[in-house]
Amino acid sequence: MPHPLSGLAPLRIGIAGLGTVGGGTLRLLQANAELIATRAGRPMLVTAVSARDRQRARGLDVSDLRWHDDPMGLADDPDVDVVVELIGGSEGPARRLVETALSRGRPVVTANKALIAVHGASLASAAERAGVALAFEAAVAGGIPVIKALREGLAADRLVRIGGILNGTCNYILTQMRETGRSFAAVLEEAQALGYAEADPSTDVDGIDTAHKLAILAALAFGRPVDFDSVHVEGIRGVGAADIAFATELGYRIKLLGIARRTGEGVETRVHPCLVPHSAPIARVEGVFNAVVAEGEFVGRLMLEGRGAGAGPTATAVVADLIDIARGSLVPAWGASSGSLSTLTSVPMSACRGSYYLRLEVRDRPGVIAEITAVLRDCGVSLKSMLQHGQAAGAGPDESVPIVLVTHETREQAMQEVVQCIAGLDVVVAGPTMIRIEAG
Ligand code: NDP
Ligand code: HSE
Repeated sequence: MPHPLSGLAPLRIGIAGLGTVGGGTLRLLQANAELIATRAGRPMLVTAVSARDRQRARGLDVSDLRWHDDPMGLADDPDVDVVVELIGGSEGPARRLVETALSRGRPVVTANKALIAVHGASLASAAERAGVALAFEAAVAGGIPVIKALREGLAADRLVRIGGILNGTCNYILTQMRETGRSFAAVLEEAQALGYAEADPSTDVDGIDTAHKLAILAALAFGRPVDFDSVHVEGIRGVGAADIAFATELGYRIKLLGIARRTGEGVETRVHPCLVPHSAPIARVEGVFNAVVAEGEFVGRLMLEGRGAGAGPTATAVVADLIDIARGSLVPAWGASSGSLSTLTSVPMSACRGSYYLRLEVRDRPGVIAEITAVLRDCGVSLKSMLQHGQAAGAGPDESVPIVLVTHETREQAMQEVVQCIAGLDVVVAGPTMIRIEAG
């Protein structure tokens, strides 16, 4: 018996990019075609595709689909109702394709966080002018349906905090460093050999990927235009094996977090390694997993955990957006029309508050701690605890030992002064390495 929906007009889909996510999307649409059609209320049909190399073996049969050497062809293809951009990059063909498709009145689905973080405000305006959807569920935390949770599930609440572990590569590296005691460089090299980290890992390990995702989450959570440039970004290259060991000893784990917070002064958006208490739920999110923590005035605190990358998880997010479009659902990209977004200002990093971990290597001789604590006193920073184990191996005046300081809550600007002054002391051989402490 034919499927009851088989007589209905299908949603005709054009996909640009047949890599990890594009290939996964084609496979999911094929594997779950009936289920997806039932939920969408009509069949989904991929009619056209584009990638760079037509001859590449992809384990996919695209012989029945119209092939476009130039992805821009999808924006004008008469057999395409919705364009799916899975090429990547904030500029170049991805940006041109999305802008062109919207200008032709075609809805767009994308997984491209770089594009949405950098150009999401103007693209949303273009989608509104055209009266079509711009959907990007897959752009943040892959298989975790966080965009929909923020834009629809939490639409009635005023959020005060959003963020979490948004990059699987960094979380994998930090987890491996803790479990094996190895250095950042050794773990990264192994992750690259295993295909867990990119050949050029900088977007991931320098925090940029997390910052793209955080900018998107902050815009949705606080109802203001997406503002990637205001995100403070630090990656994980500076986290040493010694920091991981000291953090464990102090009862913390080190995580790369994206944190966006609404305060009396405006919105803080920052990405940096953090010490989080090992009892905090987010501290237990390990390996390639992502977790998003949100806190609202009415809803309280919630955490969503899952796979933030990979063909299967990311494809579920892409296809969820396609199902919305097939159903005729049209939600503003940022949860409210562009003209009604708020003008909450961005708080500079120097004005943020928190407590801090400092690790430094000092000469093992009398008076050193007094010199260091004098710097803290002069900068108005209060010390909470200090760690030094034993004596330097040679026990001579030029031998060095690591010490760790933990401060009470203070202003970032004061800590920057502390770091600068301590680094300049003769008794300091290396460091300090500063890591912020978060409640989790
Ligand atoms: P891949 O590198 O695996 O695939 C990119 C695809 O784009 C390839 O098929 C490539 O063609 C095609 N492409 C590149 N340049 C052009 C061009 N000029 N014209 C036409 N096609 C082109 O990337 P991913 O699938 O990993 O990522 C796609 C998007 O999804 C990115 O925005 C990424 O940030 C995002 N994303 C990825 C996740 C993941 O787990 N990988 C998770 C969440 C989001 P060819 O195959 O011929 O080289
Ligand atoms: N490179 C990202 C990560 C996956 O490591 O989490 C795509 O968002």
